[in-house]
Amino acid sequence: MNDVAEKTREAEVILPPALGQNTHCDGPEYDRLYQESLSDPDGFWAKQAGRLDWITEPGTISSWSYDPVAIKWFEDGVLNICHNAVDRHVAAGKGDVTALIFEPDDPEGEGRVITYAELLAEVVMMANSLKKIGVRKGDRVTIYMPMIPEGAIAMLACARIGAIHSVVFGGFSPDALAGRIEDCESKFVICADGGLRGGKPVPLKANVDAALAQVDVEAVLVIHHTDIPIDMQEGRDHWYHDIRADVSEDCPCEPMNAEDPLFILYTSGSTGKPKGVLHTTGGYAVWTATTFQYVFDYQLGEVFWCSADIGWVTGHSYIVYGPLINGATEVMFEGVPNYPDHSRFWEVVEKYQVNIFYTAPTAIRALMREGDAPVQKHDRSSIRLLGTVGEPINPEAWRWYYNVVGEGQSPIVDTWWQTETGGIMITTLPGAHGMKPGSAGKPFFGIQPQLVTNEGDVLDGATDGNLCITASWPGQARSVYGDHQRFIDTYFSTYKGKYFTGDGCRRDADGYYWITGRVDDVINVSGHRMGTAEVESALVSHARVAEAAVVGYPHDIKGQGIYCYVTLNAGEDPSDELAAELRAHVRTEIGPIATPDHLHLTPALPKTRSGKIMRRILRKIAENDFGSLGDTSTLADPNVVDSLIEGRLNR
Ligand code: WTA
Repeated sequence: MNDVAEKTREAEVILPPALGQNTHCDGPEYDRLYQESLSDPDGFWAKQAGRLDWITEPGTISSWSYDPVAIKWFEDGVLNICHNAVDRHVAAGKGDVTALIFEPDDPEGEGRVITYAELLAEVVMMANSLKKIGVRKGDRVTIYMPMIPEGAIAMLACARIGAIHSVVFGGFSPDALAGRIEDCESKFVICADGGLRGGKPVPLKANVDAALAQVDVEAVLVIHHTDIPIDMQEGRDHWYHDIRADVSEDCPCEPMNAEDPLFILYTSGSTGKPKGVLHTTGGYAVWTATTFQYVFDYQLGEVFWCSADIGWVTGHSYIVYGPLINGATEVMFEGVPNYPDHSRFWEVVEKYQVNIFYTAPTAIRALMREGDAPVQKHDRSSIRLLGTVGEPINPEAWRWYYNVVGEGQSPIVDTWWQTETGGIMITTLPGAHGMKPGSAGKPFFGIQPQLVTNEGDVLDGATDGNLCITASWPGQARSVYGDHQRFIDTYFSTYKGKYFTGDGCRRDADGYYWITGRVDDVINVSGHRMGTAEVESALVSHARVAEAAVVGYPHDIKGQGIYCYVTLNAGEDPSDELAAELRAHVRTEIGPIATPDHLHLTPALPKTRSGKIMRRILRKIAENDFGSLGDTSTLADPNVVDSLIEGRLNR
């Protein structure tokens, strides 16, 4: 974009429509609270911690260092997050309030409405069932579930008894599941017999069986959800309905130290296998509770709907913990936006009179392509706030979301955050800030973003740079499970003494942040993080592949697509059949979300004389940007570039 276009874009501010009932935070209040959160972080967060019930109130609020890396919040506090999300609402007389509204994949299927009192009863039964199959405090429990209430119930049940949950997205393959079970030495799996997505069955239990051919566990708890026939292995596999039939209806919450682990969630990085990002109890609870209330300006009684999957951090923080700690009523949706047709989201909005809707840009772009009619088919007058997360939203999609879905009546919160940050970090607040289409906005309380050059020099004012955060916040991840050194190396070593996000970012003259995308070897496909190294290792594990290099390239719907350059072993001939086979191979190794969008079989990859693959060139060629390949003189064989360009043009 040229300078003038950029300035014009940055100058545009859309003032949020009057919120009417907003009571949480206006502009001056944001300024005051933000200042307070920086000048007296401990005082500020001690107050926010008051949102929770503590068994022992924390005396020490923050104690952290980024060099050496050791992060603690509320370290002498004792609490249980499940108590905070469920029990205390019932104790406060709100047992009849609806917690979860379950909408199945099939619009004709049976929905469920679960009150807080019913949720408590369900969580207790699940918690005692877990105990019965041998789960103890500190054990890791892998959860591999469709988007049904039992997914959230399983997470809460783990938290209740002090077990550490590791949710694996139901779209991951058996191999990927096995790797995650093995990495955290999880001895227990909770799954459903199967799931349904867009009318298609997902064989979850069969996938678990395939994973368990590679790694052993003590027990599998199987929830009956579909009629998919499954095998049960005697002694290892248990139907949940059988186990729960004779467990007690009483299960006290385990007192947990604020720094006891709550969950592990695997996420992709630039190198190696996915990392088990570790979150602990107290800080995460305070962070998700506080951000949920302010960012979504949640008012009791409103219906909130986050369309994410519990397999991702968005589902953890804004389906399970944030809303429930706030005593919210929310929709949990098993399906997809385009089944049975493209009006499904809006049908659900109308059906449950959803007030706050939170989704991903990729879904917005896919629906935008279908035009306005499917949206207008349904009454959306209940909506008063819209949100997005997961990837940069292009202004065109933003405007469609704002004007067509929200009819210009609902503010949009474009929330930037990461698995590692636990919750929302940068966003406009609905009652406080004007919005700029394409910009996430302003830092949340306590967040101090900093932009730095590749060399680590701090940049001031309106500028582009690499996004770092200079001071810890309660929701920050504490470690990589089993590999603290990797945590240090990944996030705190590029720029010493700062948390490096891996994202590039622009700050404009109004102090708004515009995330420009990853600056590392991570690509963001439909809001899902994919390490290029992971896809490469899947490709080279195929017997006919010699080498692979994977890069992201712009994709209209997915944001970024997966572009794979592959060289074959000597004597192998490239063919369309082989390309299809390689695509299928990646799906088996990782899962459908990693399916290559473009396979480019090439005789050679561009390498420096020392043998390093020049990814910069590969990215440009994938983008069809042949004019600015930069310096190719350091290539061992500059002719490779011509043949790659030819290969790209022939596609
Ligand atoms: C990207 C998802 C622009 C970013 C919560 C980040 C975004 C990665 C936004 C984290 C946004 C997330 N605007 N980019 N509003 N939200 N991202 O761990 O590159 O799955 O680093 O967490 O998604 O993805 P993750």
